[in-house]
Amino acid sequence: MLPQLLISCSSSMLRSTNLLFTLVVISIAPFSQLVHALAPQPQHDHGSGCIPAERAALLSFHKGITRDNADILASWHGQDCCRWSGVRCSNQTGHVIKLHLRNTSPDLDPYDVCDDANSLVGEISPSLISLKHLEHLDLSMNCLGPNSAIPQFLGSMENLRYLNLSGMPFTGRVPCQLGNLSSLQYLDLGMSYYYRTYSTDITWLTKLPLMQYLSMTGINLSRIADWPRTLNMIPSLRVINLVECALDTASQSLPVLNLTKLEKLDLSGNNLGHSVASSWFWNLTSLKYLGLGGTRLFGKFPDALGNMTALKVLDLSENTLDETGNLKSLLKNLCCLEILDLSGNFMIGDIGVLMKGLPQCTWEILMELHFHGNRFIGTLPNFIGEFSSLSVLDLSNNKLTGSIPPEVMNSTCLTFLDLSSNHFNGSVPTELGSLKNLVDLDLSKNNLNGVITEEHFANLQCLKTIDLSSNNLKIVVDSNWRSPFRLQSAVFSSCQMGPLFPTWLQQLREIDSLDISSTALEDKFPNWFWYTFSQSTYLNISNNQISGSLPAHMEGMALEELYLSSNRLTGSIPSLLTNITMLDISNNNFSGGIPSNFEAS
Ligand SMILES: *[C@@H]1O[C@H](CO)[C@@H](O)[C@H](O)[C@H]1NC(C)=O
Ligand SMILES: *[C@@H]1O[C@H](CO)[C@@H](O)[C@H](O)[C@H]1NC(C)=O
Ligand SMILES: *[C@@H]1O[C@H](CO)[C@@H](O)[C@H](O)[C@H]1NC(C)=O
Ligand SMILES: *[C@@H]1O[C@H](CO)[C@@H](O)[C@H](O)[C@H]1NC(C)=O
Ligand SMILES: *[C@@H]1O[C@H](CO)[C@@H](O)[C@H](O)[C@H]1NC(C)=O
Ligand SMILES: *[C@@H]1O[C@H](CO)[C@@H](O)[C@H](O)[C@H]1NC(C)=O
Ligand SMILES: *[C@@H]1O[C@H](CO)[C@@H](O)[C@H](O)[C@H]1NC(C)=O
Ligand SMILES: *[C@@H]1O[C@H](CO)[C@@H](O)[C@H](O)[C@H]1NC(C)=O
Ligand SMILES: *[C@@H]1O[C@H](CO)[C@@H](O)[C@H](O)[C@H]1NC(C)=O
Repeated sequence: MLPQLLISCSSSMLRSTNLLFTLVVISIAPFSQLVHALAPQPQHDHGSGCIPAERAALLSFHKGITRDNADILASWHGQDCCRWSGVRCSNQTGHVIKLHLRNTSPDLDPYDVCDDANSLVGEISPSLISLKHLEHLDLSMNCLGPNSAIPQFLGSMENLRYLNLSGMPFTGRVPCQLGNLSSLQYLDLGMSYYYRTYSTDITWLTKLPLMQYLSMTGINLSRIADWPRTLNMIPSLRVINLVECALDTASQSLPVLNLTKLEKLDLSGNNLGHSVASSWFWNLTSLKYLGLGGTRLFGKFPDALGNMTALKVLDLSENTLDETGNLKSLLKNLCCLEILDLSGNFMIGDIGVLMKGLPQCTWEILMELHFHGNRFIGTLPNFIGEFSSLSVLDLSNNKLTGSIPPEVMNSTCLTFLDLSSNHFNGSVPTELGSLKNLVDLDLSKNNLNGVITEEHFANLQCLKTIDLSSNNLKIVVDSNWRSPFRLQSAVFSSCQMGPLFPTWLQQLREIDSLDISSTALEDKFPNWFWYTFSQSTYLNISNNQISGSLPAHMEGMALEELYLSSNRLTGSIPSLLTNITMLDISNNNFSGGIPSNFEAS
C-alpha cells in the first residue's frame, strides 16, 4: 500500500487557497542483516552426530517454516544436528536437550513480530514431540503458528524445564495440557498481541511444583477471580508477571501466604480499581519488585508496606493515588529502594518535603525517580546533589518553581533529566556541562532565561537528545566550539539564536531531527546549511525571517519532513526531495509551479 502524504503548500501562484497535494513515495524497507543471536553449539562427545529420529524431527520442524529471511536455519543440513544453530545436545547422552530459536533482531517491534523481516514464519510441527529429552524450548518473538492456539502437544514434552513462547502471535485458549510439564521451572507465555489468548481456568498451574517464573502477560484472565489463591499454591514462584491480563481485582484475603520466595510481582495494566490497601500481596516481605502501574488503585497505603524492606522497585505510576504523606512514613525502612515511580497520579505536596522523606539510607543507591505528571509544588532542594547514584530524574509536568539548583548536577550518574513543563525560572547552571553521562535533557516549557553557552555543553559526551524550547533562553556558542556529542535530536524552538545563522550549528552535522523554529533568524541560508543537514530527516526552520531561495537540487537529501513556513523565502520550489512526506512552505514568497513529484490529491 502506498502511504498517503499530505503537503500543505502555498506559493505566490497558489497563495489564495491552501491546497493539499499528495506526494506518492514508494519506500522499500531494506532487509536488515542477519541478527538473530543464537545459543552456542558445543559439540558433544558422541562422535557420530545426533540421534537419527531427533534429526528427522528437527527436519520436519524445518519443513513447517515458510520464511527464514535471516537464514537462521541455514546450517540445518548434514548429519550432525547437534551442530545446527540453535540446537544443543547433551554431551553425555547425545540427545537434543535445547532448541533456542529466539528472535533477537535489534529493530524488532515486540508488538508485531510478524511484521519483522527477521522472524521465522510458519507453523510449529508436532514432530517436536519426538525430542523427548528436550529441556529448553525458546521460540520467542517469531511469527510461528499465527492465528492458531498454543499447540496442545507441547504438554507432552515432559522434560521441559524452560518454555518461552513470548511475543508469538497465538490466539484462543491456553491449553491446560501445559499442566503436564511437571519439570517446568520457567514458563513465559507473555503475549505481545494483547487479549487474543485467554484462559478461564488456571488450576493446571498448581501441577507445576517447581515453577519459579510465570509470565502470562497479555492473556485475558478476566474470568478467573480467584487467581491469587491458585498462585498461592505454588510456593516455588519467584516471578509472577500478569501485566495486561484484564484482571479486575486483587482484593482478596489469603489466610496463609505461601509465596515466601516471591521476588517480583507485576500486575501493571490491569483494571483493579479498588483501594490499594485491600490487595492481597502486602505481606509478601520477600518482594524486590512490585509493579502496580495503571491499575486504577486509590487510597491510603497499608502499614504492611513499611515491612517490605527488600523492595528495590516500586512502580505506582498512572493511578489515582494522592496520599504522599502516608507513603512517606512507610518508605522509612525501605533501604534497598532503587526505583520509585509515582508518575501520572494526583499527588500533591512539596517536592522538597517528599524528597527529604525518602529514607536517608537510600540516598546513595536511588537510581530512578519518576515523579512526572502530578501536582507537586515547591522548589528543587539543594540536597538533591546527595542522591549520588541517580540516573533518571523525571519531574516534568508538575508545578515546581524557583531556579534549578546547581547541585542537581552533582549527580553525575544522571542519564535522563526531564524538568519540562514546570515553572522553573532563573538561568540554567553551567554545571550542566559536567553531566558526562547525560543522554536525554529536557528543560522545555519553563520560564528559564539567560544565556546558554558552550560551557553548558562542555562534557556532555553522551548527549543524544536536547530540548530547550519554550523558555526565554538565548543561545550563544563560540564559533570555534567543537561538539563533544553526536545529537540525534535537538529542539531549540523559541530560543534566541539569530539574527545570523550561528556557525556552531555545523557541529550538529549528524543530527536526525532539528527544530530551530522561532529563533529570530533573519539571514539567508548559508552555503553550509543544506550540506550540513543533508542526512537529517526532520528540519523545522519556520517562523523566522529567512530570505533568499532554496538550492535548485535537493535530491540527495534524506529529509522526510521539512517545515519552512512563515519566512521570506523566494524563488522556486526545488524538484525531487526524494524521501519527503511533509513539506510546509506556506507564508513565503515562492514563485513558479509545484514540482512534478507532487500530485494534487
Ligand atoms: C558436559 O556439559 C556440562 C554442562 O552442560 C559441562 O559442565 C561439562 O563440562 C561437559 N562435559 C564435557 C566432557 O564436555
Ligand atoms: C523469553 O523471551 C523473551 C524475549 O525473547 C525474553 O525477554 C524473556 O526474558 C524470556 N523469558 C525468560 C523466562 O527467560
Ligand atoms: C495432559 O493433560 C491433560 C489435561 O490436563 C490430560 O487429559 C492428558 O491425559 C495429559 N496427557 C499426558 C500425556 O499426560
Ligand atoms: C476478556 O474476556 C472477556 C470474556 O470473554 C471479555 O468480555 C473482555 O472484553 C475481554 N477483555 C479484553 C480486554 O479483551
Ligand atoms: C501452600 O502450598 C502448598 C504446596 O503447594 C499447598 O499444599 C497449600 O494448600 C498452600 N496453602 C494455601 C493456603 O494455599
Ligand atoms: C498481613 O499481616 C498482618 C499481620 O502480620 C495481618 O494482620 C494482615 O491481615 C495481613 N494482611 C494480609 C492482606 O494478609
Ligand atoms: C511488620 O513486621 C513486624 C516484625 O515482623 C511485625 O511485628 C508487624 O506486625 C509487621 N507490621 C505489619 C503492618 O504487618
Ligand atoms: C555539589 O555541587 C556544588 C556546586 O556545584 C559543589 O560546590 C559541592 O561541593 C558539591 N557537593 C558535593 C557533595 O559533591
Ligand atoms: C523566580 O520566581 C520566584 C517566584 O516563584 C521569584 O520569587 C524569584 O524572584 C524568581 N527568580 C528569578 C531569578 O526570576
